[in-house]
Parts: sequence; structure tokens; C-alpha cells
Amino acid sequence: MKVLVCGGAGYIGSHTCVRLLEHGHDVVIFDSLVNSSMHVVEHINELSGARARFVHGDIRDEAALKAVLASGVDAVVHFAGLKVVGESLEQPLYYFDNNIVGTISLLRAMQSVGVKRLVFSSSANVYGNPDGVPIAEDAALRVTNPYGRTKLVMEQLIGELCKADPGFSAILLRYFNPAGAHPSGQIGEDAHGAPSNLVPYVAQVAAGLRDHLQIFGNDYPTRDGTGVRDYIHVMDLADAHMKALDAMDRVGCIAMNLGTGRGYSVLEVVAAFERASGHTVPYEFVERRAGDVAEAWADPSLAQQVLGWRAQHGLRRMCEDAWRWQAAHPHGYERMIAVA
Ligand SMILES: NC(=O)c1ccc[n+]([C@@H]2O[C@H](COP(=O)([O-])OP(=O)(O)OC[C@H]3O[C@@H](n4cnc5c(N)ncnc54)[C@H](O)[C@@H]3O)[C@@H](O)[C@H]2O)c1
Repeated sequence: MKVLVCGGAGYIGSHTCVRLLEHGHDVVIFDSLVNSSMHVVEHINELSGARARFVHGDIRDEAALKAVLASGVDAVVHFAGLKVVGESLEQPLYYFDNNIVGTISLLRAMQSVGVKRLVFSSSANVYGNPDGVPIAEDAALRVTNPYGRTKLVMEQLIGELCKADPGFSAILLRYFNPAGAHPSGQIGEDAHGAPSNLVPYVAQVAAGLRDHLQIFGNDYPTRDGTGVRDYIHVMDLADAHMKALDAMDRVGCIAMNLGTGRGYSVLEVVAAFERASGHTVPYEFVERRAGDVAEAWADPSLAQQVLGWRAQHGLRRMCEDAWRWQAAHPHGYERMIAVA
């Protein structure tokens, strides 16, 4: 297949592009580089031994998308978006414009060129504060922040388009907590500024770039009082996208969870990272953060049934791979040192 990967230079997109190229797909990366860099594209090509075409552009530029889609694209994988919950609370319009307006522009371009297969990056954020765990796809959707709202609205827009055009297929993948890196250590999560996700933050503390981790709340009704989440290896996510593209023509329009089905507390992640890195991760407990839930983990059985996908890697592997990336790239892609 010829696959257009919007946001393909980002964290999850880059790992997926490597997999797609390794499997012989023709890949076009379309990215504004608002949260990534050209270094990533070089690594994608190096790791896969193939060449992705790169187009620098914003998905809100419908004409640019149409031109790329008209070059014989069979399917689109759509990662392009802003993803930081805290930032979305401060700048909701920036998030609505980039994520929702951008997705409408992409859908219009796809419709006008007649490309009808879409794999979309959604998030467990659409469940907000769940009634219970594990969370299945039929759980109530009640978002608690502007970022989550963009995901929910985009899911609904895509769902309506599928209803209006039965020839359109879309698989909406609700990721739980992506973590880890490519086993080579060459690509990983390049957090600009302070990481918003736990594992890259812990990695920076282990590397001595930050003096300690703040743990938001130790009085949750969980086994050690800290929040519990379902961490999923980024290479497992990449495999799920491959399988979604394979399943596309037989499943129509469907949303599904991507998680391991197992939750780990913040303290368990810290302990696993200390073992993987051989470094201590100092931490302090601070007040709970507004909007955080005590525990969230997936029921991933639908993805297994429909895609034949199941997560292969556990927390230890996520920490080892994240550490290899962190140790080789203490300051992200811009200033690299040789992999130890
Ligand atoms: N990483 C997570 O914790 C997580 C969890 C659930 C869902 N998601 C979703 O998965 C997707 C990928 O996440 P990621 O972690 O790889 O993020 P990322 O920021 O690393 O990658 C997103 C990529 O999209 C690009 N981009 C953003 N807006 C764009 C636009 N308007 N036009 C073109 N390119 C644009 C960025 O430059 C970046 O390369 C996002 O949609 C995100 O919301 C991420």
C-alpha cells in the first residue's frame, strides 16, 4: 500500500513508519514539524533500510494534502495533533484549531480525492473519569479537558462521515499510555521542555537532567496510593497500526482500545525504571492534580478479536528501551551522542 502518515515524524508516528517501511509499504510522511524534527526522518530511513518521502506541511492546508493524496495514496494514518493536556487547558482554541480544523481539512481532502481508508490516533482520554476498570469501548465517553474533547469530536466527525459514506472505513485507536522506544535506541519520545508523560520524565531524572520527580497524590484508593495507568510499548502500537491497515477493508468503522490490560502505579514505574537504568530516581509527593483519575487500564480484547493484536512487551522492556534512547539522546534529537 501507499500510506500517507500525517504526523509521521512524531513519537508514535516515527515508530510506525519504520514498521510500515520494513513491511514494504510505500510511505509519505506529512508533518509540520511543530513537535518533531528532520533528524527523525533520517533515522526512520536508516532503521528501515528504505526511504520515506517527506512533505513539510500543515494538515490545515487542504490543497497541499490533496496534492499528496492524488499521488496514488491508498490509506491515511493520522497522528498529526497536539497532545498535552495542560497546554490544552491554557490554550483551548489552539487545540481546537490544530486538531479539529486540521482533521476536517484532512477528511475533506480525502473525500475529494477519493481516498477512503483512515487509521486515526485517539486516546483513552475520551473516557475521562471512568466508572470502573478495566475500561471497554462501550464505557461512557465524558472528557475532562480540551485535549480530550478534540479527540472525542474528531472520533464523532469520522463516525458521521462513515455513516454518510459506507465506502469509507476508519479504525479509531484509543491508546492508553504509550511508553518505550525503538530497541535500537535511535528513535524515541523527544520531549521538548518538561515531559508531560511519566516515563520520559522519570528517564530525565534517572539521567540527572532533573533532580527529582513530583508524584501527584499518594492518597488514591490504589495499592500504594499513587495513580495506576496502562503503559503500552510504542512498538506494540506500531504493530497495531500495521494490523489495522490489513483489517481496514473488512471492518468498516470501529473504535478500539490499545493497552496491555494491566495497570502499574507511579511507584511501580519508578522502581522498574531504577532497575532498568541502574540509577536512583528521587521523588517527592505533592498534591493531586485536578482532573487526574485514580486508575485507568484497558480491556484490550476487542483489538485482539478484530485485529488479532495483543501487546507483546511489558513494563520492564518499556523502561529498558526508554533508557537506551534517553542515554543516547540526553537532549533529544538535536544533540546526540553515540549509543553506549
Ligand atoms: N503520546 C501519548 O501519550 C498519546 C496518547 C494517546 C494519544 N496520542 C495521540 O497520538 C498522536 C501521536 O502522538 P505522539 O505522542 O506521537 O505525538 P507527537 O507530538 O510526537 O507527534 C505528533 C506529530 O504531529 C505533527 N503535527 C502536529 N500538528 C500538526 C499539523 N497541524 N499538521 C501537520 N503535522 C502536525 C507534529 O509535528 C508531530 O511530529 C497524537 O494525535 C496524540 O494526540 C498520544
